[in-house]
Amino acid sequence: MEVKRLAPSDHLFAVEVIRALKSPDGYPIPSEDHLRHFLSRPANILIAAGDGGIPVGYVVAYLLDRVAGSRGMVLFYEISVAESHRRRGVGTKMIAELKSICRAHGVAKMWVQTNRSNTAATRLYSLTGAQPPEEADEVTFTYFWDSLMNPDPAA
Ligand SMILES: CC(C)(COP(=O)(O)OP(=O)(O)OC[C@H]1O[C@@H](n2cnc3c(N)ncnc32)[C@H](O)[C@@H]1OP(=O)(O)O)[C@@H](O)C(=O)NCCC(=O)NCCS
Repeated sequence: MEVKRLAPSDHLFAVEVIRALKSPDGYPIPSEDHLRHFLSRPANILIAAGDGGIPVGYVVAYLLDRVAGSRGMVLFYEISVAESHRRRGVGTKMIAELKSICRAHGVAKMWVQTNRSNTAATRLYSLTGAQPPEEADEVTFTYFWDSLMNPDPAA
């Protein structure tokens, strides 16, 4: 099992990763140019797991600067492992790689969102060292595309 952060030169493999693991959920297959550009931005992290060159997992995360303080943060945006390869430590290995990137960048904090009902994710995050929110009433609001595109502040 190989786990690594993809570099811009890995853009062809990155297309395969997304095609195999994300596009079946209805997401379009990104172009090679898009992924080369995505991977060339230092803040964008795409970690992939491969089994004999076949993509079996990925993590997307973003390095963020803070307005006050020099140590940054990481938004751990998503993780997915192919059903055929779950419960084999792939998710744990990819998070270990992500944490090592955090250490290399002096990151102070990383967070990830999920649902309490997602037992696999909540156990994985706890076992890899993340703490659940202290406040049970924490909630996330999302401004979707239609709201962002509407100049009316109330829309
Ligand atoms: C969540 C997910 C990434 C876990 O990946 P994984 O490679 O199977 O995780 P690991 O093998 O490293 O599991 C580590 C530990 O997490 C826990 N765990 C993982 N999957 C579990 C499950 N389905 N049920 C209960 N515990 C689970 C176990 O404690 C496991 O250790 P163990 O197998 O020794 O008991 C994977 O299930 C997945 O892709 N799910 C669909 C996508 C998703 O929900 N992503 C998270 C959205 S926020």
